[in-house]
Amino acid sequence: MEISQELADAINDQINFELYSAYIYLSMAAWFEEHKLPGMGHWMEVQVDEEFNHAMRFYRHIVERNGRVLMKAIAGPETEWTSPLDIFETAYKHEQVVTERIYKIGDIADKQRDRSAQNMLNWFYNEQTEEEKNTSEIRDQLKMIGDNIQALLMLDAKLGARAPAGPVPLTSIMPNPAPAGAP
Ligand SMILES: [Fe+2]
Ligand SMILES: [Fe+2]
Repeated sequence: MEISQELADAINDQINFELYSAYIYLSMAAWFEEHKLPGMGHWMEVQVDEEFNHAMRFYRHIVERNGRVLMKAIAGPETEWTSPLDIFETAYKHEQVVTERIYKIGDIADKQRDRSAQNMLNWFYNEQTEEEKNTSEIRDQLKMIGDNIQALLMLDAKLGARAPAGPVPLTSIMPNPAPAGAP
């Protein structure tokens, strides 16, 4: 089944939004570096790679189905936040927006009985559950920490140990490849 123009347009928009997400997280990484929380900066850098991989999954799906990928300008990200809690609250809300956008792509695929797109999107439904859990969990821990600097530095060290994202998946539906050097 050929991909419809409506679905290809929606997925192209989502490629752009995933790259925009990467840009936001890189902006957040820079804020953490500036504020001497390099572990959180590292966590955000891994997130940048994950978002790029998401963009590439959508990219591959269009290519696999002989559609046309069209790049557009990426919007400028926010650059100012008041605290680590503010950042992770923003990240959580951003992931909720992403989930809603991907569900809307699923609505188009449903309407068109596009099983191929739905199969590709299934990976993203699970991924968004994970993305919302990760960001809300860290937000909640930051709420518990309050202004306890020692606890903040402990969390920073923990987030600094986040494993790198794997390489770009070779197809739109393959499981995440293991990061380089992983057993
Ligand atoms: Fe994403
Ligand atoms: Fe995400």
